Amino acid sequence: MTPRERFEASTAAARRTLCRLAVSLRTPRTDPIPQSLGDRVIRFRDPALADQPLRPNPAYAEPPRTLGPAPQQRPTNPRFRAIGHNYHVAHIPIAPGTSLYATGEVAGPFRRNGTVTTCWNHDAFGYSDKTPHLYQSHPWVLGVRADGSAFGVFCETTSRCTIDLAAGIKFETFGPTPAIVVIERDHPRDVVRALAELTGTMPLPPRWALGYQQCRWSYHPDARVREIAQGFRDRDIPCDVIWLDIDYMHEFRCFTFDKEQFPDPKGLNDHLHTLGYRAVWMIDPGIKVDPDYFVYQQLTEGGYAVTDKHGAEYHGSVWPGPCAFPDFTSKQVRHWWAGLYKDFMATGIDGVWNDMNEPAVFHVATKTMPESNLHLADDELGGPGPHTLYHNVYGMLMAQATRDGIAAANPDKRPFVLTRAGYLGSHRYAATWTGDNLSTWQHLHWSIPMALNLGLSGQPFAGPDIGGFGYLATPELFARWMGIGALLPFARGHTNKYRDPKADGAGVGGDTIMPDHEPWSFGERTEHVCRLAIQRRYRLLPYLYTLFERASRLGDPVAQPLFFEDPADPKLRDAEDSFLLGPDVLVRARTTRQGECDAPMPRGDWRRFEPAAAHLNDPTDADLPELFIKAGAIVPMGPIMNYSDERPLDPLTLVVALDEHGKADGALYEDDGDGFAHQQGRYLRTVYLAETDARDVTVRIEDESGNMPRPTRALHVEIITADGRAAKATAQDGQPITLRLP
Ligand code: NOJ
Repeated sequence: MTPRERFEASTAAARRTLCRLAVSLRTPRTDPIPQSLGDRVIRFRDPALADQPLRPNPAYAEPPRTLGPAPQQRPTNPRFRAIGHNYHVAHIPIAPGTSLYATGEVAGPFRRNGTVTTCWNHDAFGYSDKTPHLYQSHPWVLGVRADGSAFGVFCETTSRCTIDLAAGIKFETFGPTPAIVVIERDHPRDVVRALAELTGTMPLPPRWALGYQQCRWSYHPDARVREIAQGFRDRDIPCDVIWLDIDYMHEFRCFTFDKEQFPDPKGLNDHLHTLGYRAVWMIDPGIKVDPDYFVYQQLTEGGYAVTDKHGAEYHGSVWPGPCAFPDFTSKQVRHWWAGLYKDFMATGIDGVWNDMNEPAVFHVATKTMPESNLHLADDELGGPGPHTLYHNVYGMLMAQATRDGIAAANPDKRPFVLTRAGYLGSHRYAATWTGDNLSTWQHLHWSIPMALNLGLSGQPFAGPDIGGFGYLATPELFARWMGIGALLPFARGHTNKYRDPKADGAGVGGDTIMPDHEPWSFGERTEHVCRLAIQRRYRLLPYLYTLFERASRLGDPVAQPLFFEDPADPKLRDAEDSFLLGPDVLVRARTTRQGECDAPMPRGDWRRFEPAAAHLNDPTDADLPELFIKAGAIVPMGPIMNYSDERPLDPLTLVVALDEHGKADGALYEDDGDGFAHQQGRYLRTVYLAETDARDVTVRIEDESGNMPRPTRALHVEIITADGRAAKATAQDGQPITLRLP
């Protein structure tokens, strides 16, 4: 059967479903029995519609198995209401003192009580806290009760829905009846882990993707790309990745290269590799309508495009003018799309950036395709149906196809994809960034809560356009942003192509090109701060990689809210300018021009430390966030390098903060940094332990696992005492080392 025949056959099935729905609306209400999906994970249905088949939901890594009836009468039991077939409300009451978070990619306050978020993926240049919907949809809320116990609520819908947190949690959905899944746990971290059990974890990215990355719309021609790459090396500013935005394409045709500006993409990528860079190139979903263009030819010949409600190929305008859009809801189409990456990646491309995949469409008020457009959708997604059902998952399915394609093209490498649009679960396929922010202090401030709420929504690999995408950055803002951005999970500088006339006061704009936004473009002082900020990230890479591995195994966010440290402390609930990097490092940032960090410190003893050692008491100190290590923790650090694979991790530095019992411990995860041998056991996880006897501290290995041999390397130990003094010693890693406390 062709995809189109399948579509027609299925409309009959859809009609049958509607008849059943009409009948069920006349049947009397009975309370459906909530079903258990796992330990304290319960799926609730609207009693009036409980006999309706549930639509599958691609947030799940595997369709969840129902384990049997679950206990009734829980405090978070939803109440349902439906009007007609397509409007459903589920209300979940909350107890006083409950703080609400997550809801995906949202600007505005970190704590979401009182906000309304719409799940409807949307091209949202220059968004604000008033923009109802950004690029992604996560119909998911995390609640933290006054006593610190926590719960999560997932509204199982891919349709447009609003998450209204004005009085409890209210999901309003505009589509088929959704089920509500409630997860109960004792700690918010465990709720996020339980979400990861349902939606899967982020696969471990290649280590280079944790390095600093440099982008702009667009570096062109290829000579400019080389110049930027050399610029980092000449200035000793570490950088792992250079990004290629749309202008490398031949008239914005995906999978092509502009013959004049990029005559030899392989030569360019080879050159970048020689300097130690990886290259990430952009691919959009809009395929130029052009019968002479091979991608368009294959798209039409295969019948792979999204169609309008009459079944004709839908065309919408994007960068190249009229475009057709691959229908990623079909496995067959995803397979075809994946295959396009073979030749593309053969030019030495290392990763792919999927942009505009809400999908964004120009010159229409909705900024996207009509909701009546038709998708071929496979049965496991719910079968053929209108765009209204698949809009929110279109970008995620594109990222899935992209990931499959680059994995097939380079089977020995870990795929790296960045996606703009997403849905709950898209962390399985791609990292993300927070779209077209602006070079304003407000947007700098939002970059922390946005990354935190994405982390609480299952996406640990997120960060903003450092420096801001739209508008002009000032040297001061740019420096401050680099300080903070270099500590968020995804660290990439980026900027718009054009200046925005509204933003520049003098009315400059339109076609005026945005000035440079590289770390050295704002004068010496800003360059100096940027260098230190990025060097800090590189020193912390061993710790960050350990956190990413934990995220890929357990689902823990990399950047975590302060309340993870003490969920019952109400003072930590609103912290927006301070966050945790994993359990052991705390970041305190200044996100306003003049002000200080507002956030309280969590309980316990936290000690200031400085990874880019030379710079404590540097006059530019105040531009960089303060870093603290938790008493009782050991944080592994590496040497500063130009890029993450430049040299082996040698020396390994352990920063040790002893607790009141004179003890500390901490883990280091290592592997080849790319490839899949770690899945066969080729990794090394070391737990280091520090113990004190009188004034002597001994640091030794408490536990190690994995079958990667321990590298021969120097071990530097730095003990940071409560009064800020430090003791240092060097030994061979693997041998115990004893130091005298100062
Ligand atoms: C929109 C994206 O959000 C931005 O990052 C990119 O530079 C432009 N599209 C051009 O591709």
